[in-house]
Parts: sequence; structure tokens; C-alpha cells
Amino acid sequence: MSNRLPLVLISHALPDDWIKKLEGCCQIAVGPPEANRLSTGLMQRLPDAVGILTLLTIPVTEEMLAKTPHLRVVSNMAVGYDNIDIPACTRRGIPVGNTPGVLTEGTADMTMALLLAAARKLPQASQDARAGRWTTWSPTGWLGADLHGATLGIIGMGKIGAAVARRAAAFGMKIIYASPSQKPEVETDLLAMRKSFDEVLAESDFLSLHCPLTEATRSLIDAATLRAMKPSAILINAARGPVIVSADLEHALREKWIAAAALDVTDPEPLPPDHPLYQLPNCLIAPHIGSATQYTRKRMAELACENLLAGLRQERLPHCINPEVYQ
Ligand code: GLV
Repeated sequence: MSNRLPLVLISHALPDDWIKKLEGCCQIAVGPPEANRLSTGLMQRLPDAVGILTLLTIPVTEEMLAKTPHLRVVSNMAVGYDNIDIPACTRRGIPVGNTPGVLTEGTADMTMALLLAAARKLPQASQDARAGRWTTWSPTGWLGADLHGATLGIIGMGKIGAAVARRAAAFGMKIIYASPSQKPEVETDLLAMRKSFDEVLAESDFLSLHCPLTEATRSLIDAATLRAMKPSAILINAARGPVIVSADLEHALREKWIAAAALDVTDPEPLPPDHPLYQLPNCLIAPHIGSATQYTRKRMAELACENLLAGLRQERLPHCINPEVYQ
């Protein structure tokens, strides 16, 4: 394979102009559009693969890596990388790239869209209007919650959490947050206050999750934590589905432990059409579209290509999750 261009597996078809940077630099094998794992066809090509470009839906496992003697890079077209066995990549000296930064603003916009829609009961109101239930201007119909003066609790004050905080502050919300480290910029600029996780749960009118999915955050929001929230609270998740225990959330929404939830991510994903969460009028569900804007997705693909190309050339990835591979 030395006189041929290196083989890159791309888990899903992507528009040509998003992956233009790869032209002439590698041979590409592309998977089918709807896969939730690497297709059988691509699996068979793992032994020759030098690079892999994945989406967040594609698990990259130890077992797969064992079949890739020539692999130099895994590039994930996502900021999150919980789909990839990072320690296994690191043990093999394979750098893993992600796409931070470019989806911060788009995901923060989506978070505000969820928050506003849930606060003002937009899905129900819209459905009622279409269904002929808008019979008058009702003084007591579709009453929602105000953002102005409400407390927004943010779990995980990274780039996206901070972008949400900036938007929320412009709406007149008070910001509190729980995060492994203090974030002086949001404290100075937005008067945000760092608190314990329990304090944030108890004090938030809106609670928005922006932490990565790790062993520490998996099932972070369970029956006990939902019970600790205000009955009027609205929970927003634009991070990763398994941060919330779905069955506990369903129970909490039915029993009105909290008022509502707005989810861009779920566990499992996709959420099957017969899932009980869809039956709840106080649960808004979007199909993981936080970064789904034309600009953002193109930039994510371009960044993923930059990581991939650097890896193929055995140069340092511009955005590397496991820089210890370079030591
Ligand atoms: C989206 O969820 C991402 O991690 O990029």
C-alpha cells in the first residue's frame, strides 16, 4: 500500500464541498447514510484503513481497533467523543480529533430555543392552534414561565455552557453553575455564581446540562436529583442523553416532580417512536440537532478533515483529545 494514497473510511456520506480538503490526499470509502455503527463493508476494510472519520453515532471500540494495524488517526465530527474508546486509542498511539469551538454558538442557540419553547409551551400551543382548540384569547390558556428574573442553573460551564450563559444573561436571567473548575470570565462578565451541584439543583428555575458524558456524569440526573429540583423547574438537555436516566425523568414528569423537560439528546438515540417520553405533553424532544445549521455542520466537517489530514501526515492534530500520544 506504500505507493497508493492512504485509505480513509468515512462512516457516513458527507456533501462533497464539506470534505473538499481531502481531495487528492487519500482514497475514501464511505458508509451508508443512516448507519448507527460502521457498516459491514467498511468493517471489512479496517485492515487497510489509515484514517477513520466518524460521527458521534459510530462506536469506535477496542475490538475494531484491533483490526487496524495501519491506523494513524480517528477523527470525530463532533465535539463530544463518548462514542470512542479513547484509552484504547491512546494505548495504540492513535490520536483522536474532535471539533470544538465551531458548534458552540449553534448549540447555545438550540439550547435557548429549547428553553424558550418549554418555558412558553410552544409545542402544545402550536398543536392546539392547528387542532382547532384556539377558540378565543384565553386569559388563562397556555400560561408559561418568565425567563426574566428566573435562575438558570448550568451544569458544566465549558464553551457551550458559557455561550448559553451569555444568551441567558441578555434575557435577564440570573446564572448559577456547577463545574469542576471556577470560570472567572462568566463570574466577572455575567455575575454568574459557582455553587455546589446540590445548590444548583435546588435553586434553579431552569436547569441546563452542558457537561460531557463521562463515567462521572452518566446518570447524573436520576430520581434523587429530580426530586431535589423545584416542582416548577424546567430541565434542558443539549449535552448527551445518558446524563439523564430516561425512566426516572419519565416518572418525574408524570408525577410533576418537575414542570417540564426539553431534550435535544436522549437515551437511547434515536428515541423509538413508541417511547413513553413522547406521550408526555410536558416533554419536548428534538432529534439531536444542536449543531444542525448549514454553517456549523460544514465547519465541523472541515475541522474533522483538518484533523484527519494532520493524522495521515503524522503531524499533531489541530484538536486532539488524547495529546498524551505525542509524549
Ligand atoms: C454534538 O452533539 C457534538 O458532540 O458535536
